Amino acid sequence: LGHRIAVIPGDGIGTEVMPEGLRVLEAAASRFGLDLRFETFDFACWPYYERHGAMLPPDWQDILGGFDAIYFGAVGWPEKIPDHVSLWGSLLQFRRAFDQYVNLRPARLMPGVRAPLVRADGTPYAPGEIDMLIVRENTEGEYSSIGGRMFEGTERELVVQETVMTRHGVDRVLRFAFEQARRRRGRLTSATKSNGIAITMPYWDERVRAMAAAYPDVAVDQYHIDILTAHFVQRPDRFDVVVASNLFGDILSDLAPACTGTIGIAPSANLNPERRFPSLFEPVHGSAPDIAGRGIANPIGQIWSGALMLDFLGHREAHDAIVRAIEAALAPGSGAPRTPDLGGRAGTADLGRAIAEALRAG
Ligand code: NAI
Ligand code: MG
Repeated sequence: LGHRIAVIPGDGIGTEVMPEGLRVLEAAASRFGLDLRFETFDFACWPYYERHGAMLPPDWQDILGGFDAIYFGAVGWPEKIPDHVSLWGSLLQFRRAFDQYVNLRPARLMPGVRAPLVRADGTPYAPGEIDMLIVRENTEGEYSSIGGRMFEGTERELVVQETVMTRHGVDRVLRFAFEQARRRRGRLTSATKSNGIAITMPYWDERVRAMAAAYPDVAVDQYHIDILTAHFVQRPDRFDVVVASNLFGDILSDLAPACTGTIGIAPSANLNPERRFPSLFEPVHGSAPDIAGRGIANPIGQIWSGALMLDFLGHREAHDAIVRAIEAALAPGSGAPRTPDLGGRAGTADLGRAIAEALRAG
């Protein structure tokens, strides 16, 4: 059975790392006998915007809606288009229209990547010792458009923005997180702030307790977001799955990859777990205008995102093999080329080819 995958390279280094992501996916397809059908689209980038006056064609929902997944590079080119226009006009539209209510970010300390953190006693963490999965609620919570301004420009000026939590919205992301914990090491941490945000956050905690009753095999704990960020830095090895509301998840999902090294390797997924709509897989990084056009971007974030896509499409063994190939290429002494962010002098395609090679050899 084949999978139809929409490929959107986007802007800047998105167009440079995407070919390496596809190279590794092709290698995975041939090793595991997968039928992946790619179709590439030229929208969601500044050259398209210059030609059409919009980031996307008007019928983009029909065009993309029939795919099994969207494999995305990066969007944004501030020199040409303000970020709120380019991102709101493309990526954020996808997340909303396709109800991608889970934002997933694994953060794992890889071999051969200089760990930015050490233990309190000064010893470094070993590869794999930091290995967490951030599950962010992606459609409601603090990022609602309910609110407004009054008395603008006067002494009585007042602004309000409401947090929205629905039972449906909270429960579905919690259920997803508990399922992930069950597949992994059986631990789930919930981010809260019920001591200060005294209506919505106690509700979140209440739904966590209710869901926990259905997962007696998962060990649950919760921390207020302030001390949780401190624990990420001081004890990152104690976390497995971490689930959080939209705002807290946004913060944690940047912090967690920062705890494990270069942004160039971090992957992410925006999921509609029920598969009513396509899910989207993209590196955490953006279009990196400062290094774009030089062929030196690290392709691992794109490649690892492709692995997440195969996992979601039901090919766990292909996912695991790609992650092992990335680790093999990164391992000290592997002889594989390294891009400048990893301390080497190699190009994007050199590293991509080495990972595809390791995957075929695996
Ligand atoms: P960025 O992630 O593009 O770059 C931040 C820094 O990390 C830069 O110094 C860059 O050179 C470096 N970097 C990023 N990816 C790398 C890679 N693969 N290999 C080596 N080094 C890498 O973030 P920035 O500069 O804040 O944003 C640039 C543009 O990208 C903006 O238009 C922004 O809105 C957009 N953006 C888009 C995202 C998306 O498409 N999901 C996510 C983040 C930013
Ligand atoms: Mg963010």
